[in-house]
Amino acid sequence: MVEIRCEDLWKIYGSGTVALRGVSFALVDVSLVILVGPNGSGKTTLVRIIDGEISPSKGFVSINGLSPDVARAKGFFGVMPQEARLHEYLSVREYLYYLALIQGLNRHEAKREVSRIIDDFMLQEYASTRIEYLSAGFKRRILLAQAFLGSPEILLLDEPTVGLDPEMRAKLWDIIMRYARERGSMIILVTHYIDEVRDIASRVLLLYKGQLIFNGNPRELLSKMGYKYRVQVRLRGSKALETPPLRLHYRSGDVIEFYVVDEEELIKLLNYLVSLRDWVSEFSIDRPSLEESYLRLIKLLEGGGSGQHL
Ligand SMILES: Nc1ncnc2c1ncn2[C@@H]1O[C@H](COP(=O)(O)OP(=O)(O)O)[C@@H](O)[C@H]1O
Ligand SMILES: [Mg+2]
Repeated sequence: MVEIRCEDLWKIYGSGTVALRGVSFALVDVSLVILVGPNGSGKTTLVRIIDGEISPSKGFVSINGLSPDVARAKGFFGVMPQEARLHEYLSVREYLYYLALIQGLNRHEAKREVSRIIDDFMLQEYASTRIEYLSAGFKRRILLAQAFLGSPEILLLDEPTVGLDPEMRAKLWDIIMRYARERGSMIILVTHYIDEVRDIASRVLLLYKGQLIFNGNPRELLSKMGYKYRVQVRLRGSKALETPPLRLHYRSGDVIEFYVVDEEELIKLLNYLVSLRDWVSEFSIDRPSLEESYLRLIKLLEGGGSGQHL
């Protein structure tokens, strides 16, 4: 079981930028955490403090009761940094092999581990190619792969899919899912593709201007939208409606959007639409995305806008 506690973390860089403003949370036995927030909100700073790469200006972190430095020395972390350099003159296999040796695996274990990683990340074709000859996207894949060497307890993946093609991205979510399930590792994933991972994420942390403004599961984040379904109806011509059965609706020309909070309301609405069927030309029903919920929370904080619907 892995446990990370952060208490009142502040980070003020030498330049005077305040990157974190009193962030506190506990992650206990959580398998996949997604860390989201607009650019500059402090995600990378938080990840680098957790893995002991930089220290906070105030506050503390504990990893299973250890300081990040100690946890780092014990090999707790597998890290894919947002930016990094690789050793260009080694082949992919050599590079991974030396990293495995540095982590303390013996030659035999290192060989086996590297073969597994090469398979998992579909690197076979280029395993003997010198890194300097690989494309930028491929180099990202190797950076990602090396984080998984030695099955670390905590994986910190900072925007790992930048520069990856959709096939590799789907593959990455698979690998992550398997890791989370089989090894009991904790994965902290910084990504903008929150809806692609919402079904496997057990926790969402949302940073905004250095503050943690949401800490809960994806379902709780969705409930911040205040509705469960959105129904869109296009009418033939400009029929005037008698009062629809829902408080939350919004008309623009021929199109009406209904915001439906639960199944009971949905059934009421569907019955109503059946009574109108000669007038309905198109109809769609969808659920809000995590991304919409997240943007809505941020908009609310900015004191702005989209309050017109709800
Ligand atoms: N090494 C640094 N020195 C000075 N300012 C930094 C440094 N790293 C990040 N910052 C600033 O701190 C803030 C948070 O950055 P970062 O943690 O990289 O956010 P994110 O990963 O969410 O985009 C930004 O304003 C950024 O410019
Ligand atoms: Mg970042």
